[in-house]
Amino acid sequence: MSGYRTKLILFFAAILLLTACSGRQSVGTEGDWDTLDEEFLSTLPDQDPESDAAKEEAVRVGVAMPTATSERWVNDGMNIKAKLETLGYEVDLQYAGDDIDLQVSQIESMIRNDVSCLVIASIDSTKLVDVLEQAKKNRIPVIAYDRLLMDTDAVSYYATFDNKAVGTLIGEYIIEKKHLKEASKAGKSYTIEFFMGSPDDNNALFLYNGVMECLAPYLEDGTLVCRSGRTSFEDTCILRWSEDKAKQICDDLIRNYYPGGGLDIACSAFDGFAYGILSACDVRGLTGDKLPLITGQDAEKTAIRNIAGHKQTMTIYKDTRVLASKCVTMVQALLENGMPEINDTGQYNNHVLTVPSYLCDPLVIDESNYEQILIGGGYYTREQLFD
Ligand code: BGC
Repeated sequence: MSGYRTKLILFFAAILLLTACSGRQSVGTEGDWDTLDEEFLSTLPDQDPESDAAKEEAVRVGVAMPTATSERWVNDGMNIKAKLETLGYEVDLQYAGDDIDLQVSQIESMIRNDVSCLVIASIDSTKLVDVLEQAKKNRIPVIAYDRLLMDTDAVSYYATFDNKAVGTLIGEYIIEKKHLKEASKAGKSYTIEFFMGSPDDNNALFLYNGVMECLAPYLEDGTLVCRSGRTSFEDTCILRWSEDKAKQICDDLIRNYYPGGGLDIACSAFDGFAYGILSACDVRGLTGDKLPLITGQDAEKTAIRNIAGHKQTMTIYKDTRVLASKCVTMVQALLENGMPEINDTGQYNNHVLTVPSYLCDPLVIDESNYEQILIGGGYYTREQLFD
């Protein structure tokens, strides 16, 4: 055996020893280190581990995002990639166009390409159970990004926003802006319709529960009237967060229950839905004063323009820079034996385990504060929004 190969064996044996002694959280099946054999060594570049080239060989991280059609996921992907690259990691960032099979094959190819860690924002996580099992067999730790990975034990951490708080912020906003407490005492009522998130996204139900925690009492006492009668999650969820579907639903609702106007509140869970609602209102001639109070989520640029133009009323700002940073600290901890910061160990059970999570804080944005928070906080420049 050459001096090089002896050194290589000693090098990996040292890593093995360090890993075993570190007490690092095990995320995969135990003891696959017998793959450290001659065959494995023959696949390694013929390099002295102490050479510069070997030291510089970057550790690869796979980042799987659901779709690039929505602005927020583009920002999320870019932020994670940039932050990981700054730390010296190599990043394989893939968008799946909301195609579940494509996301599965992207993750499979990341595993084949020897990523050391996976960050996944799923489309329908129940369809990822098998590929996550493969990751686990290959001892690749997985971080659930924004959306929880359900029905698997192959997930180490979850970085997200407080999804129930997103719903309560929307509900509280409606209560405040429509003065529902006073309206309830005065026997006044407002009409409302609901446009909730995708049934295959765990976040959507959390958001719905937050909304209903605030608004259910007003629906019960008649201060809020839903003419369509659709108030349950099952009746109001919209598969894959489709803007077109939201438009079609809103168009049907206006035609059947609000011809000529009369819808006061469109409680929407996503900026994309707000665009669909606005476009249905436009087609049906409901503009200006006839527009309902419209809520949203993500603080997309189009949403902020619509808020400034008095079309959409509010949105929820999720600073993707903060979420990306939290996620990157989790990656680093997993790869470098550190302890990531977590602030929730009780809420996010995926049917197999309760995943240690970091929940970032969402914020309400409307006409009164978008300049200060989004432009002042450097999330968007004025030119990006209005030129
Ligand atoms: C995210 C939201 C986003 C929605 C649609 C959810 O999982 O939490 O921020 O609006 O997906 O993309």
